[in-house]
Amino acid sequence: MHIWRAIVARRPFARKARGGCEEREGVILGKKSKFDRIENVLLICNGKDCKKRGAKELRKAARSKLREMGKRRSTHIVRTKCNGFCKIAPVVSIQPQNVWLSETDEEEIQRVIEEIIGEE
Ligand code: FES
Repeated sequence: MHIWRAIVARRPFARKARGGCEEREGVILGKKSKFDRIENVLLICNGKDCKKRGAKELRKAARSKLREMGKRRSTHIVRTKCNGFCKIAPVVSIQPQNVWLSETDEEEIQRVIEEIIGEE
């Protein structure tokens, strides 16, 4: 959630710099072609504890699963800073479905991606 707020807050500056942005229902969007393809966002914590517990492998597993499903271009993967859930690391969130995974592994993330993103 913090990441989305940060992006929305920065949009007015992007708008001034690049032009061609539009405003819809109070949210300023960037050039249509850049964001149009994104349907899901995968937030993978890349903080110290999540890294120790395999965040990099999770990212690779998620990326390969998305590629296999043909959803790589429509799913944006973001490496976040610590989300504050270090005790249950590694932490992954799938948006906009608002699915959170804790203490997850490669098999589980691939299964959940298939269930949630694959059904669309
Ligand atoms: S390092 Fe991932 S939640 Fe803190």
